[in-house]
Amino acid sequence: METKNVLIFPCGSEIGLEINNALKYSKNINIYGGSTVSDHGRFVYSNYVSIPSINDDDFISSLNEVIKKFSIDYIFPAHDSVVLLMSLQAKKINAQIITSDSKTTDICRSKGKTYDFFKEEDFIPFVYKNVDEVNDFPVFLKPDVGQGSKGIALAGNQNQLNYIYTNNDNMLILEYLPGKEFTIDCFTDRLGELRFVGMRERRRIKSGISVNSVNLLVDTRVRDIAEKINNKLNFRGVWFFQLKEDNQGSLKLLEISPRIAGTMGLYRNKGVNLPLLSLFDRMNLDIDIVENGYNIEIDRAFINRFSMDFEYQRVYLDFDDSITLNGKVNPYVMMYIYQCNAKGIEVILITKHEKDINDTLNELKIDKQLFKNIIHLTKESQKHLYIDKDIKSIFIDDSFSERKEVYREHNIPVFDIDAIESLIDWRV
Ligand SMILES: Nc1ncnc2c1ncn2[C@@H]1O[C@H](COP(=O)(O)OP(=O)(O)O)[C@@H](O)[C@H]1O
Ligand SMILES: [Mg+2]
Repeated sequence: METKNVLIFPCGSEIGLEINNALKYSKNINIYGGSTVSDHGRFVYSNYVSIPSINDDDFISSLNEVIKKFSIDYIFPAHDSVVLLMSLQAKKINAQIITSDSKTTDICRSKGKTYDFFKEEDFIPFVYKNVDEVNDFPVFLKPDVGQGSKGIALAGNQNQLNYIYTNNDNMLILEYLPGKEFTIDCFTDRLGELRFVGMRERRRIKSGISVNSVNLLVDTRVRDIAEKINNKLNFRGVWFFQLKEDNQGSLKLLEISPRIAGTMGLYRNKGVNLPLLSLFDRMNLDIDIVENGYNIEIDRAFINRFSMDFEYQRVYLDFDDSITLNGKVNPYVMMYIYQCNAKGIEVILITKHEKDINDTLNELKIDKQLFKNIIHLTKESQKHLYIDKDIKSIFIDDSFSERKEVYREHNIPVFDIDAIESLIDWRV
């Protein structure tokens, strides 16, 4: 297969970060992260491109310049408004957009249009036409066009309802759905066939994102809703919809979205990589899906990525309780060592190990070749005497006294094992 260049925009959204995770190790796919504001994308995309705001007049022409410069073949829009804009402007953009057709994206961007389009179906929540129609509380309000649960509100009485409704534009007034909430991840191939339906419960939600989710069996009722939606709209590739139970336990539609969901990583880890399948489908390949049978739970939290304002050519690294952890190998430290090797940064093992260090390395199955050199010292010797002043170096040791001494003598950065986190480069 010929190598394809794929631009993800905006690359630092939760969606953009999930696409990064999904595509970063794929052979023959080069990913580029595009962003308007400086964001987390910078820490995970090695190809990071600045792109003007979608609100700029020359957005399309600037985008086309980026497409030309990097020979971009495909673009993954990674925000609801970008999905809509790019599908509407698809003809003017000189790369293929991985989303559905513009009629579909237009309906999906508006909850009002979505509910109206499917109004004959029994899975649509009751939508009040105006505040005076409401006689049963609470009712739920949300913006017609929105994302990430922004602007949602619950009105418990007429006063609250009037207040929320008059202070916000384009709010929908809906029957309140008190029950469980589900996301259904779907994939439609180039022939319009619904090839994958994966259901998951949104068990904990933070800032509009499911931060705890488990896979569930898709029952016939949910499959039936997925088929109905797929038959009436024109999806291509990945999409999803959300359902919530009403007070009878019946499932009602919250929204449909023709894009990746940030928590689709759940199904990726069951073997179903929906962004990659969407690309293959675009390449007109026949896709095939194998979903592993195990059950899986995902739990999400913020992660830390760092960048520092110094460079180094050499690492002096301690052995006991630095490379080892409870007598075994600390895999995190090994990841760092391999990364140094890949980047051409020298690693020098500097240790006061009590036994023969070669034997211990062998026992732990650590290859000596990972180290440029092994400096084996006695308990009494001082590590700082063996550090070369002429090479830009850092020093890693779990012992504070060793670090303190090296810092005092050489004034180079010193790290405990807990700070190796900041030395790892996550960009692919
Ligand atoms: N009718 C409703 N009753 C109760 N909660 C709702 C209702 N509609 C939406 N919600 C809640 O608001 C959240 C956001 O609504 P949703 O339609 O998914 O819009 P978006 O995710 O685009 O902000 C949902 O995840 C759900 O928890
Ligand atoms: Mg939602």
